[in-house]
Amino acid sequence: MPRKIVAFSAGKANGNTETYIKIALEEARKMGCEVELIRLNSCDLRPCKACSNMPCMTKGPAGCILNDDGAWLAEKFLECDGFLLGSPVWALAPAGAVSDFRDRIFGPKTDVAGNELYGAPEWMKGRTQYRPGALISVGGALTENWTALGLPTLYTVTFSAQINIIDHMNVTAVADPGEALTRKDYVQRARYLGQNLAYAVKHPEID
Ligand SMILES: Cc1cc2nc3c(=O)[nH]c(=O)nc-3n(C[C@H](O)[C@H](O)[C@H](O)COP(=O)(O)O)c2cc1C
Repeated sequence: MPRKIVAFSAGKANGNTETYIKIALEEARKMGCEVELIRLNSCDLRPCKACSNMPCMTKGPAGCILNDDGAWLAEKFLECDGFLLGSPVWALAPAGAVSDFRDRIFGPKTDVAGNELYGAPEWMKGRTQYRPGALISVGGALTENWTALGLPTLYTVTFSAQINIIDHMNVTAVADPGEALTRKDYVQRARYLGQNLAYAVKHPEID
């Protein structure tokens, strides 16, 4: 069975972030990976309610009190062999959908180290694996300081699940609709990112 990369985008449909993600995915597809793109903004994903007994911890995201796409997104993550996350920068940091995605799917729920120490809940058993990942942050500002919290915040999605980020892109000065494709340097960089991710996905023996 081909190994699968799932990309999650917090950008506009067909926007700049999605353009770079698609370029990366196309390279990965050419290298034999199955690929899928999920638009977080097309999902019904509501903010975590921080409810007191946190059924999502014991029963998994399917036990969440919110009846939305959270459990489906969690399954998409758990079934993937490679992870790609991209977001535009809004007010120095990734768009808000990334925070909801992280708080609902990741954090303590997918705490690999905690599970090793204290034992994994039933729903997580056997679902922890070596999983390479890559990140793409896209800002429109002309200077990097206005994108300062883009990539660092994308990394916060990955820590607890121990996704091995093997490449990342920090794009600046790509603001207008369609502008992503006019930047040949970033287009090439996105190709390399897709190749690097696909290579890591296909070679789990190289940790
Ligand atoms: C609400 C909002 C806030 C933004 N804030 C920033 C910012 O702080 N820094 C930056 O570099 N670009 C900022 N931008 C520009 C976007 O990051 C840029 O247009 C990007 O290319 C949009 O990506 P998309 O087409 O994938 O949605 C902002 C855009 C919006 C709509």
